[in-house]
Amino acid sequence: MRTNEDLLSSLPADGTLAGRTALVTGSSGGIGEAVARVLAASGADTVVSGRNPERTQAVVDAITASGGRAHALTADLGADPAAIRAFAQGAEDALGGRVDILVNNAGVYPGFRTDAVTDDEMQALWATNIRAPHVLVASLAPRMAERGSGAVVNIGSWMARVGVPNKALYPATKAAIEQLTRSWAAEYGPRGVRVNTVAPGATATRGTAKNADALAAMTKATPAGTPVRPIDIAYAVRYLASDEAAFVHGATLDVDGGMAATRLR
Ligand SMILES: NC(=O)c1ccc[n+]([C@@H]2O[C@H](COP(=O)([O-])OP(=O)(O)OC[C@H]3O[C@@H](n4cnc5c(N)ncnc54)[C@H](OP(=O)(O)O)[C@@H]3O)[C@@H](O)[C@H]2O)c1
Repeated sequence: MRTNEDLLSSLPADGTLAGRTALVTGSSGGIGEAVARVLAASGADTVVSGRNPERTQAVVDAITASGGRAHALTADLGADPAAIRAFAQGAEDALGGRVDILVNNAGVYPGFRTDAVTDDEMQALWATNIRAPHVLVASLAPRMAERGSGAVVNIGSWMARVGVPNKALYPATKAAIEQLTRSWAAEYGPRGVRVNTVAPGATATRGTAKNADALAAMTKATPAGTPVRPIDIAYAVRYLASDEAAFVHGATLDVDGGMAATRLR
């Protein structure tokens, strides 16, 4: 099977999203980087964002080196709502005044026993995984609706619908995102804005690298048999962001190697 890096370095250019603009949060690495690179290779003018300026710029450079259009915008999405609104405005400004595709990917996933989660971790989970997507949708979806078109893709998790020990609060934030997706589909869908979730399975990223053995063990008995590659999530996001998904509203698309559906042992 080809690696994520190999696939990302040889993305075929296509026009699926030609003329569109996209903001991908948490795209300085991991799943978000793959999403930004696939959307840009598909013709979208793309804002790459993260907290780390060097990593963010490196993704922009990779996109532009392969002929795509991208802009770097750094921000801490755990910050207060006013800062997130300014970030949304900054993305619109970078993209010539409009965001057609919003991908709410940035997320944190500290994993601890419930009685070991610190107050700071609780705050970061709420602020990054739920509040920031909410503020970004509140800022950008009404303007998509005024234009009569747009797509929001939220990144959930296979954990949102199963009980996993020592992870209680993180999956709860992802269950909230799935529900927000359905609510936003009802709220904005009739005005041309489609809202959907992609739910990744255990995916090999910088964030999960220190748990690579656990990831391999968790995925061994799934139909796919190995961890998901970020690019597999990215192709699902591209589909949901594109006109090919014109009749898909409020859905959750599992891209988890069959983990949630089968739970094979
Ligand atoms: N990996 C998995 O197994 C898995 C499974 C299911 C769902 N997910 C979800 O997929 C998403 C991406 O996960 P990942 O594994 O790719 O994560 P990752 O490798 O840790 O990368 C996280 C990305 O989000 C950014 N980020 C984190 N906190 C941020 C903040 N407060 N403000 C701005 N940017 C922030 C990081 O930017 P900087 O590094 O520049 O700060 C980085 O670009 C998350 O929502 C996660 O919950 C992951």
